[in-house]
Amino acid sequence: MNEYLTLSEAAELIGKSKETLRRWDREGKLSAVREPMSNYRVYHKEQVETLFTDFLIQNNAIETVSNYVEPHNEYSVLELFAGAGGLAVGMEKSGLKCVALNEIDKWACQTLRNNRPNWNVLEGDIKSFDFSEYHNKVDVVTGSFPCQAFSYAGKKLGLADARGTLFYEFARAVKEVNPPICIGENVRGLLSHENGKTLQGMISILDEIGYNVVPVQVLKAINFNVPQKRERLILVGIRKDIDLKYEYPKPYKKIYNLKDALKKGDLFDCNVPKSEGSKYPKSKIDVLDLVPQKGYWRDLPLEIQKEFMGGSFHLGGGKTGMARRMGWDEPCLTLMCSPAQKQTERCHPEETRPFTVREYARIQTFPDDWKFEGSIAQQYKQIGNAVPVNLGKEVGYSIVNFLNKYYHCIK
Ligand SMILES: C[S@@+](CC[C@H](N)C(=O)[O-])C[C@H]1O[C@@H](n2cnc3c(N)ncnc32)[C@H](O)[C@@H]1O
Repeated sequence: MNEYLTLSEAAELIGKSKETLRRWDREGKLSAVREPMSNYRVYHKEQVETLFTDFLIQNNAIETVSNYVEPHNEYSVLELFAGAGGLAVGMEKSGLKCVALNEIDKWACQTLRNNRPNWNVLEGDIKSFDFSEYHNKVDVVTGSFPCQAFSYAGKKLGLADARGTLFYEFARAVKEVNPPICIGENVRGLLSHENGKTLQGMISILDEIGYNVVPVQVLKAINFNVPQKRERLILVGIRKDIDLKYEYPKPYKKIYNLKDALKKGDLFDCNVPKSEGSKYPKSKIDVLDLVPQKGYWRDLPLEIQKEFMGGSFHLGGGKTGMARRMGWDEPCLTLMCSPAQKQTERCHPEETRPFTVREYARIQTFPDDWKFEGSIAQQYKQIGNAVPVNLGKEVGYSIVNFLNKYYHCIK
């Protein structure tokens, strides 16, 4: 169901009632389709997102808030599943200090070490590390644990039941370190994974180890100075002895687009530097050459549509990610771990090619001097996996804000 949203999910994403969406369906403003496998009425995710962004752009009149807050102390972070450092760089920008970062992938570790020789990179499987040395010495434990199913014995899930999963390792680290606050990060799909049972299990495990979970929110990167329609689910745990409210970062009204990502402007003070990148095969170039900015396979001549789509042509559904060319005046669609995938194409607006490595990094708001290690494919993967740096920075401000209040109270 990844490509599609149910009526409730679409309504939540846009912030309108289900009734409004049904009316729009009747008026042809946002049409539901039949999901090919289940035959349920669903909405094509990319169409819903485009509509949502259009609203934001239309209503983009006043820019008021800033989430910036100055740290009252030097706060420290233990960052797990650190990847190439998207979240870590973002948190660093907000004033938090990474005391250690764990990551299994050797190229991602190389990236972290080369860019920040002073960071303590713990390379290897999280299962082989004991974090007790950080007990009561770290202010926040963060981590983008990969999502895995739990096996249930029919009762409330406890820490021991989750053994063998990476969430177990995240929770074990939190238990060993005992920070005032912990933050898990994941994809929106966690909300519906196993009908919500996986998320519920995570909340009950955090409860068991002494943390109350704040109502979960999905943050939209476009609201946090990121020129990309990416979403991240944030799971915030507050140690039970602390009676303070955690506040999510407030969304900004200004929406940035692809031009802001790749050209000199508000986000970057120069055009994107030249760099390596993958290429399309000639057969794909011939097809994509015919697609205009913001267009996709439906903009091709009928015969070419049929040839390009093959069996999918008759399946129905939007498939708006196929043969998709981005436009300069829209935020980029979510970047994937590889830049040229048939179902989720994101062709450059003017040239018929995938985004280069540095363009990818810009769309994720990495600074131009943050270099990635490994083959081109490894570099794309590290960037595609990352939390956008500017989103990480805003989450970082929310942590700083919470810790300022916490240390003020216990003084
Ligand atoms: C979603 S990515 C993290 C992105 C990162 N937070 C960022 O902002 O760049 C998840 C990471 O978990 C790492 N990982 C997966 N299994 C692991 C394990 N057993 N131990 C440590 N890291 C692991 C992957 O290599 C991957 O880099």
